[in-house]
Amino acid sequence: MTEIRAVQGSIDRVDSDLIVVNLFEGVSSPTGATGAVDKALDGAISEVIRVGDFQGKRLETALLYTRDAIPAKRVLIVGLGKREDFDLQTVREAAAISASRARDLRIERMATIVHGGGAGGMDYAEAAAATAEGILLGLYRFDADKKSKEDSKRRELKTVSIVELDGGKIPALQEAMHASEAVAMGVYRTRDLVNLPPNVASPSYLAGVALQIAEKFETVSATVYSREEMAQMGMGAFLAVAQGSYDPPQFIVLEYRGAERSEPPVVLVGKGITFDTGGISIKPSQEMWRMKTDMGGAAVVIGTLEAAARLGLPVNLVGLVGATYNMPDGNAYRPGDVVKAMNGKTIEVISTDAEGRMVLADLLSYASRNYKPKSVIDLATLTGGCVVALGKEIAGLFTKEEGLAESITQASKSVSEPVWRMPMYEKYKELIKSDFADVKNSGGRWASAITAALFLQEFAEDLPWAHLDIAGPVWTDKPNPLTPKGATGFGVRLLVKFLENLS
Ligand code: BES
Ligand code: MN
Ligand code: ZN
Repeated sequence: MTEIRAVQGSIDRVDSDLIVVNLFEGVSSPTGATGAVDKALDGAISEVIRVGDFQGKRLETALLYTRDAIPAKRVLIVGLGKREDFDLQTVREAAAISASRARDLRIERMATIVHGGGAGGMDYAEAAAATAEGILLGLYRFDADKKSKEDSKRRELKTVSIVELDGGKIPALQEAMHASEAVAMGVYRTRDLVNLPPNVASPSYLAGVALQIAEKFETVSATVYSREEMAQMGMGAFLAVAQGSYDPPQFIVLEYRGAERSEPPVVLVGKGITFDTGGISIKPSQEMWRMKTDMGGAAVVIGTLEAAARLGLPVNLVGLVGATYNMPDGNAYRPGDVVKAMNGKTIEVISTDAEGRMVLADLLSYASRNYKPKSVIDLATLTGGCVVALGKEIAGLFTKEEGLAESITQASKSVSEPVWRMPMYEKYKELIKSDFADVKNSGGRWASAITAALFLQEFAEDLPWAHLDIAGPVWTDKPNPLTPKGATGFGVRLLVKFLENLS
């Protein structure tokens, strides 16, 4: 990861391959740090504006060469858009765009001001954190499996200095940067796990990562349960899904202790289907590769727990991950099967492709049996229906708890990971009534995201519980400033913010 550090000084005096300053839309004579650079360059920035090559539109950039007028070799101006629309997401994206430009220029050192730190009128620590976060998130690349590629020929950006004139603000800057780095490492972890191919990111691989994290942090412990141990616990729903998998399932329990033992934990539950073929109710082969992302919920749980540990958040946190492949096989579970879940309820299998809820059902029972949680949040790439309803960028939020809905929505807004509350419409429970068991695992095509949530509710019972369907936002097909094409890590920043807001 690129090293990021705080430097006290004036940006126009910093020796670097590239310095970054900014401008709001419609400003003709720059002030502040940008003004200082403009002056040192004898009005070069004002000129670019005057001739009409730069208007300060959101994320617009212009590159200038300094001809030894200042120690830095190049100046990048980045537009912040209209002042009245300015927000933290603009800060993140402006920082990310600058770092990407620096990397494309194949330079090693870049220096930037804190976007929003001066004239932006933002809370300084928040602006500093967003600047650092944007840089690190935007620089992420996954190319572990490419032998020869453009990317490896490219020189890595080695250091980014965030420059602040006011020495009194340096400690706040330092702290914000460290926090952003911890969160970004959690996001990197999640993205890596989702981007990895399904032959590598197997259930035992996920278990290995959990054990590694526990090894690394004294505050984290990990326990992994085998097929036999799950059978002893009565996890008949989870095990039904795993029946067709030669690779054994892994039930992973991660515990992070950041508060007194008596403090009730937040429990995060992740769907970890390491590949979803659909099983006997097999999926069409077109685009089936996408189902390598079906462990996205699990990856978010692991990445969030790692970030919480690195940050030393003053909370207790439990991560429950149910990891298995969903495969067709001679021993695979079948449509028509009736299985008994850990809480004693029986489930009629209508579709073996509705496997995520089977796994989550037993994890939710485990949560209610083993903890007295403050709240339980599950994350799952649960339904295609949720993607149809909300598209690729918005997660579905399902909960009956008003307070939990409120705090999740608030965290979602501050990190710009959008969620939208969906109804837990009780009448649709009709759709998952079974003739042969307590409940069936599919309610058919209509409102499938809602019936999936209502199914889970049968197992969450009295838990203070919320469900996030991340089937859309787990992956992006087009790059954006904060995320290259591929896994997004959606959910990690939201949950870290949620946990921070608790304390
Ligand atoms: N993993 C899928 C959901 C999914 C679909 C995620 C598309 C991302 C993109 C899930 O296991 C599934 O197959 N759901 C079925 C449920 C149906 C059988 C009730 C679905 O959504 O079609
Ligand atoms: Mn499925
Ligand atoms: Zn699935």
